[in-house]
Amino acid sequence: MAMACLFSSAKMAAVWCMVILGFAMAAVRVHCQSTDTLGFISIDCGIAAGSTYVDPTTNIPYVSDTPYIDAGVNQNISAAYVTNLMGRRYLNVRSFPNGTRNCYTINSITPSSKYLIRASFFYGNYDGLGSQSRLFDLYLGVNLWKTINITDPGSGYRTDVITVAASGSFSVCLVNTGHGTPFISGLDVRPLKEILYPAVNASRSLVLTRRLNMGPTDTFIRYPDDSHDRIWDPFNNIPFWAETSTNSTVENFVDDKFEAPSAVMQTAVIPVNSTKLMISWEPELGDVNEYYAVMYFSEFLTLTGNMSRQFYVYLNGQLWYAKPFTPDYLFSDAIFGTNPAEGYQQYNVTIQALDNSTLPPILNAMEVYSRMSDVNVPSDAGDVDAMIAVKAWYKIKRNWMGDPCSPKALAWDGLNCSSSLSNPPRITALNLSSSGLTGEIATFFASLTAIQILDLSHNNLTGTIPAILAQLPSLKILDLTNNNLNGSVPSPLLTKAQNGELTLRIESNPSLCGNGTTCEITPTTKKKKLSAPIIVIICLAPLLLLLVVVSIIWRLRKPPSSGKGNSVEPQNEETLKRVKEHQDGLLQLENRQFTYMELKSITNNFERVIGKGGFGTVYHGCLEDGTQVAVKIRSQSSSQGTKEFLAEAQHLTRVHHRNLVSMVGYCKDEPYLALVYEFMAQGTLQDHLRGRAGGGRALSWRQRLQIAVQAAQGLEYLHKGCKPPLVHRDVKTGNILLSESLEAKIADFGLSKAFQSEINNTHVSTVVMGTPGYLDPEYYATNQLSEKSDVYSFGVVLLELLTGQAPVITAAGNAHIAHWVRQRLARGNIEDVVDGRLQGESDVNSMWKCADVALRCASPVAHQRPDMAEVVTQLKESLQLENPYVDSRTESLYAEASDVSQNSALEIERVAAMSVADRPSAR
Ligand SMILES: *[C@@H]1O[C@H](CO)[C@@H](O)[C@H](O)[C@H]1NC(C)=O
Ligand SMILES: *[C@@H]1O[C@H](CO)[C@@H](O)[C@H](O)[C@H]1NC(C)=O
Ligand SMILES: *[C@@H]1O[C@H](CO)[C@@H](O)[C@H](O)[C@H]1NC(C)=O
Ligand SMILES: *[C@@H]1O[C@H](CO)[C@@H](O)[C@H](O)[C@H]1NC(C)=O
Ligand SMILES: *[C@@H]1O[C@H](CO)[C@@H](O)[C@H](O)[C@H]1NC(C)=O
Ligand SMILES: *[C@@H]1O[C@H](CO)[C@@H](O)[C@H](O)[C@H]1NC(C)=O
Ligand SMILES: *[C@@H]1O[C@H](CO)[C@@H](O)[C@H](O)[C@H]1NC(C)=O
Repeated sequence: MAMACLFSSAKMAAVWCMVILGFAMAAVRVHCQSTDTLGFISIDCGIAAGSTYVDPTTNIPYVSDTPYIDAGVNQNISAAYVTNLMGRRYLNVRSFPNGTRNCYTINSITPSSKYLIRASFFYGNYDGLGSQSRLFDLYLGVNLWKTINITDPGSGYRTDVITVAASGSFSVCLVNTGHGTPFISGLDVRPLKEILYPAVNASRSLVLTRRLNMGPTDTFIRYPDDSHDRIWDPFNNIPFWAETSTNSTVENFVDDKFEAPSAVMQTAVIPVNSTKLMISWEPELGDVNEYYAVMYFSEFLTLTGNMSRQFYVYLNGQLWYAKPFTPDYLFSDAIFGTNPAEGYQQYNVTIQALDNSTLPPILNAMEVYSRMSDVNVPSDAGDVDAMIAVKAWYKIKRNWMGDPCSPKALAWDGLNCSSSLSNPPRITALNLSSSGLTGEIATFFASLTAIQILDLSHNNLTGTIPAILAQLPSLKILDLTNNNLNGSVPSPLLTKAQNGELTLRIESNPSLCGNGTTCEITPTTKKKKLSAPIIVIICLAPLLLLLVVVSIIWRLRKPPSSGKGNSVEPQNEETLKRVKEHQDGLLQLENRQFTYMELKSITNNFERVIGKGGFGTVYHGCLEDGTQVAVKIRSQSSSQGTKEFLAEAQHLTRVHHRNLVSMVGYCKDEPYLALVYEFMAQGTLQDHLRGRAGGGRALSWRQRLQIAVQAAQGLEYLHKGCKPPLVHRDVKTGNILLSESLEAKIADFGLSKAFQSEINNTHVSTVVMGTPGYLDPEYYATNQLSEKSDVYSFGVVLLELLTGQAPVITAAGNAHIAHWVRQRLARGNIEDVVDGRLQGESDVNSMWKCADVALRCASPVAHQRPDMAEVVTQLKESLQLENPYVDSRTESLYAEASDVSQNSALEIERVAAMSVADRPSAR
């Protein structure tokens, strides 16, 4: 394993470029996962054809590069540079003394999927030319990935690119620029989930500049610590920085956009005698001067009393992330740019503590990427396929590698291409004169549909001239002189030639029938055609016979079907247990019952926490069929007893509505109790309103109204669609979950109670339920909760949607949101209350209408509140008032919202935060 020296700025070179020592590696870890299932492609360049091995450090299997390339020579590095600690793939290289461009083609890539590709280089004086420096270009497809500048023969160099595959293969090319023979040691391809690195898309690839693991560690971190096998370089011993670490695991959020490994997040740096951390970089040779940084933060301390850690992040003196940032305790959070920082000669990032922060800023890890060049456009795909086929058909020995036309300077010899800046280049002329071609004229030429000049003269081509060449619309010159063609010239070609559309040269083909002479079509072609069906029959006959035999055997083996036979079949333990419970009448659930072991497996041993609450912890899980679920496990210390837990389960089996979170199954495997719900990818409405989800983007007014209508429909169903009706009793933004498409569903029925409206329409309860701020004020007087209590809570939710404020507004002396809104609206100006992130965007009448409904719901007197059916109707009208055209403006709204306090073009987002409800709430 080698240290990356390649990417250091001149200033920081001394620190980043810790030459050589880098072969130390993390201790060997044992793991059981097969890397095949991860989709890793790991190529050791320069080892013997067909050889493979498993890397002892990572357990990743490596293969020889021979299937991926047909050029270059294998070389061993000089013995003087071999050390015991060195990764095996650095012992050999493949070098490319011939040809300007030599390319690896890596197939079995999923088009439109995201990948990380890494190339590694260790010179090790393989060619005996010693310490002179070498400079060559590395291309991904038709564009420059990185200029490789190798100065130290004993250092490893590597470069990563994150890209979205345009097709089913990657082409990685080494280009000789006249400053030394290109060579390569290794190539790794790692699939990435679509959600990762959101700045990367089909039109933007990012090249790694540096990936630093801050804090006290000397080892590189990669797979299996990092499930995506990113390599994190240790970055430590910086003067003025102190190092800190934790032994506790640092978790990732669900749908984390970066999935930083815990091992990286467990170490960090803080400033010494200062309130700021500073780090800088400069643009490098060949890089596009457009940078995307990701900064990773996590809190290691449980903050008590008045302790706080809050900081701003600045780039070149300007606020980069608009809000004060507080790292989450033992969760990995990050800020990152979706727009580039560009055009500077130097990039200074400063992490500055707020004046009132009692703790200094912290930085756990950092990545910087530059945008990969995209100036070159790949050739027309049809032309590329045709040329690859032509190359293979005639076994052409020229150095035809990579894209035929692009980049222009590296176009294949013998080709002329159209050049247009935006359109894919087309092949307009192909000169294969005197190229030793033998055999027939391949029909692939007919796929070069933009070709004007095709020169196949002075070869040894045989057979007839394909008539299909006449269909090439732009063909002006067809030169077939000096070959061994026979038969006659097809009449469509002759016609074109006679019309003057085509210059046809056919001299010096002794067996070719001359102009105007009629020749018989040679019988051989006819024979071939006839023989095809016969071949098929000959081949199929044994297959059919085999089929008949197999089916006979099958019938003989299959026991006669009988109901009796089935019923005595032994049942597995799980089935028996479920049957018993049904008999008990204890829990009559139609849903799936899980065992604790099954839960363990679907949550990958409770790997990922997505929420914590009074009742226990919620984990992310994946069913066998890939369905994502949320698994809520009752903790031993839960205030919720077995009875309440099962009550929730039972309620859930009764209710089925698209705006209520549905239950997938449950587990009653004493002492473990668990509920399995559908997974709601976008987390809680609360997180979105508090800016902790949605990547810091504010929901638009239209989105808020849609969420309100959907949640209201869910509640209406509970009140009206259930018999007996259900009162939810804990309606709040933290219990409204959002699906991937932001569809709202009500969750957490732990407190809900059925009540017999036929009897007395009220429910007397002895324990205070619900969440402060949402609780029906009448409850304090009457101790009674009804449907109208849910309506009150829902009114508070509507007010939060409108204002973006919490139910109890601390900034306004702990005023209740309903009081606060009522007071301000009395002055007649809705702008005073509307969420600042919505300003100027939406229909004011729609907002007024919603405010009116909200305040009526939040009326202190229960009988003045509307019922949910009316709320649904009113909200739908409010939604109609909101102009539909706003949807198309949503994007620019986001930009405006996040640009409020920054005057640069930098848009920085915070990673989507926690994603599921049931987080601790004051009770
Ligand atoms: C490179 O070219 C030389 C001379 O043309 C030839 O002898 C040699 O075999 C070639 N090497 C490779 C690896 O193709
Ligand atoms: C290559 O790297 C060396 C050492 O970092 C540097 O001095 C040199 O200028 C670089 N070459 C180019 C062409 O950038
Ligand atoms: C920090 O301040 C203390 C006391 O002023 C001093 O002893 C120490 O050397 C300083 N540390 C650094 C790294 O400047
Ligand atoms: C982590 O564990 C090691 C060994 O048990 C201990 O020496 C170290 O102090 C611990 N670190 C922290 C931050 O708790
Ligand atoms: C970055 O910081 C250095 C030293 O602190 C300063 O000299 C330089 O001007 C800064 N560059 C920018 C673009 O702010
Ligand atoms: C510190 O001040 C900022 C605004 O300057 C404020 O948002 C934050 O809540 C304050 N933090 C504490 C702990 O008082
Ligand atoms: C062309 O092919 C024929 C038969 O395969 C062979 O006899 C002849 O020498 C070849 N001519 C050239 C110029 O390669």
